[in-house]
Amino acid sequence: MTILVTGGLGFIGSHTVVELQNEGFEVIVIDNLSNSSIDVLDGIARITGKKPLFENIDLREKIAVQNFFSKYQDISGVIHFAASKAVGESVENPLLYYENNINSLVYLLQELQKKTEAHFIFSSSCTVYGQAEKMPITENAPIQVAMSPYGNTKQIGEEIITDVAKVTNINSILLRYFNPIGAHPSAEIGELPLGVPQNLVPFITQTAIGLREKLSVFGNDYPTPDGTAIRDYIHVVDLAKAHVVALQRLLHKKNTEKVETFNIGTGTGSSVLEVIAAFEKVTQQKLNYQIVARRAGDVTEAYANTDKANSILGWKAQLSLEEALASAWKWEKKIRQQ
Ligand code: WQD
Repeated sequence: MTILVTGGLGFIGSHTVVELQNEGFEVIVIDNLSNSSIDVLDGIARITGKKPLFENIDLREKIAVQNFFSKYQDISGVIHFAASKAVGESVENPLLYYENNINSLVYLLQELQKKTEAHFIFSSSCTVYGQAEKMPITENAPIQVAMSPYGNTKQIGEEIITDVAKVTNINSILLRYFNPIGAHPSAEIGELPLGVPQNLVPFITQTAIGLREKLSVFGNDYPTPDGTAIRDYIHVVDLAKAHVVALQRLLHKKNTEKVETFNIGTGTGSSVLEVIAAFEKVTQQKLNYQIVARRAGDVTEAYANTDKANSILGWKAQLSLEEALASAWKWEKKIRQQ
């Protein structure tokens, strides 16, 4: 079974490639290296003993996508990570996001619809819920008007997949991630944020290692127990395993609908201050931080109801917040040695 992983040298993609190889799948990675490094291939090989096939393709190039599928005719499934994903950048440069995230998806689906059957896993996000009314968030929580072009591309992506499923042999699973954090326990792969990290955990580890002077906590005046915003932080290895389980569901034709949707989180919410406290406990590192104003576009609270993933997908997060933070710290120390 050959599986195509687009964006397979990225943070979540690379961890998913490892888990696919661990399950015996042949993997081909497409990545345009715009937000990843070719060295990740060696990191994957150091973990699994097998370097995946790699094609440096930009999925915005329709002809290149067509040529890829002519060259590799035996692809049984596609896990599609490749996308731009910085919320703030998407507000500044919406067309970059609409071209990259939508065109790439369309060109992939145009190739898959030519196959007698195709299995497609789509990287979606809890951002589609905006500020959900009720916690924990279930899959049938209303989809809110997107807070950013990035979030809108995820909503549009889901709608495209749903419309296409009605008239093609493509079976899909949409995985709505909450907040992926951490790194592979081997510290051979992990998160490689370009420039100043937008996300909380890489900013924490870069502060702890001395790359950043201090962490700014974006607001402590939220209506939460300690005033800071709450998220569902899931270990990236647990998230990667969810993709393998979802793919196997499709390959074994266990899906009951052409498009199924699952929230992938731990089911537990943690505030920013709780994450900081957990990091300090796990690493015995005091973290330098200051409270500043809220960040525009942030929601107060978002954590997953994972009953559907647990019962129907047969998947449940196994790793704790502390284990994720410890792995993130181990990774940060490893990459700063080089
Ligand atoms: C988490 C919490 C911040 C940085 C985004 C995207 C989502 C997904 C994950 C792509 C918030 C606070 C953060 C900092 C802080 N991305 N924070 N200081 O915004 O929940 O989700 O990343 O798929 O789609 O929306 O994640 O890590 O940026 O923020 O206080 O320097 O940490 O305010 O409460 P977010 P995040």
